Amino acid sequence: MGARVIGIGTALPDQVVTNDDLAQMMDTSDQWIRERTGIHERRIGMPTSTLGIKSGRTAMAMAGVSPNEIELLILSTSTPDQLMPGTAAAISEGLALGSCGIFDLNAACAGFTYGFVVASCILNAQSAQSGSAQSTQSTQSGSKKVLLIGADSLSPVTDWTDRGTAILFSDGGGAVVLEHTYEDTLLGWNLGSNAKHRDILYCDHGSHIKMEGREVFKVAVRAVSDSILQALDQAGISPDDVDVLLPHQANIRIIEAICKRTNIDMNKSHNVISYTGNNSSATIPLSMWQAYESGALKPGSIVVMTGFGAGMTWATAVVRW
Ligand code: UT7
Repeated sequence: MGARVIGIGTALPDQVVTNDDLAQMMDTSDQWIRERTGIHERRIGMPTSTLGIKSGRTAMAMAGVSPNEIELLILSTSTPDQLMPGTAAAISEGLALGSCGIFDLNAACAGFTYGFVVASCILNAQSAQSGSAQSTQSTQSGSKKVLLIGADSLSPVTDWTDRGTAILFSDGGGAVVLEHTYEDTLLGWNLGSNAKHRDILYCDHGSHIKMEGREVFKVAVRAVSDSILQALDQAGISPDDVDVLLPHQANIRIIEAICKRTNIDMNKSHNVISYTGNNSSATIPLSMWQAYESGALKPGSIVVMTGFGAGMTWATAVVRW
């Protein structure tokens, strides 16, 4: 059993900041940023709730679901509009979701994949509870759905004088609507962390993101590669059989290094970082949307989602589309 994606939506702010714009504000250059990160430009200027509402609305429209069919809203974010209530509340109101369950999930940039695993398990549990697991239907028409959103507005917590972070971070949102299916879709997953590294990437209340970039790079490559290999092993899938890789978009060199270590062909990776920058929880659904638009997500495709972030946290899900 598992969950399947029946709608995808994205949201990016209108304001574009190019590398040349940054070079006027700090000691950097377009060439350095392109070569060392793969980023050409990024988008900023929208709060997390707005990003969540816009991407959630598009995903629900694509799925053809009405607000009362959403049973649970999970918002992955580390940049909530307020400390409380969770920003899921503002999104719920914006989308008129009524009295469904809502919560914010903070696993930094790994959050969307954590949320994907949690949502899949909840949909399975719900189906087992209702006794409908014996049904021979492959999907449950009229069944409740989970809306999973990844949205982050990093621009307000970015120090726009720090070339070690300002070149990377941005704002964005992405959402999926998931429904239960009797087909096996979540083939393997791995959720992990190493809290000893929680001081190499953090943001204190009222302050800006602080990052030891080189250290984060090293830990990420090792942790994510291992996480992918463990999840693939659990799924009984070889790296060659992966059709679509949806990796967190933090630095194109990190993605290249991960592909090399896991033997997944880099051409299978769907990257948006050149025009989005790193918008944390939103990068994986943004990359999923690109893969969908390109026609790469076909029924039966083996899809690997993988993310890492502050904590350090990491997460991989191996999914049959
Ligand atoms: O969502 C998750 C989290 N974050 C990440 O995944 C970030 C991971 N880290 C990175 O992406 C990279 O470490 C950075 C892009 C942040 C930095 O790239 P790097 O290749 O690790 O550069 P570095 O810090 O090793 O610096 C190399 C050189 C240094 O000069 P020297 O000492 O060799 O003369 C730096 O001073 O590049 C210099 N440098 C820059 N030059 C121009 C560092 N940042 C910049 C810059 N522009 N923005």
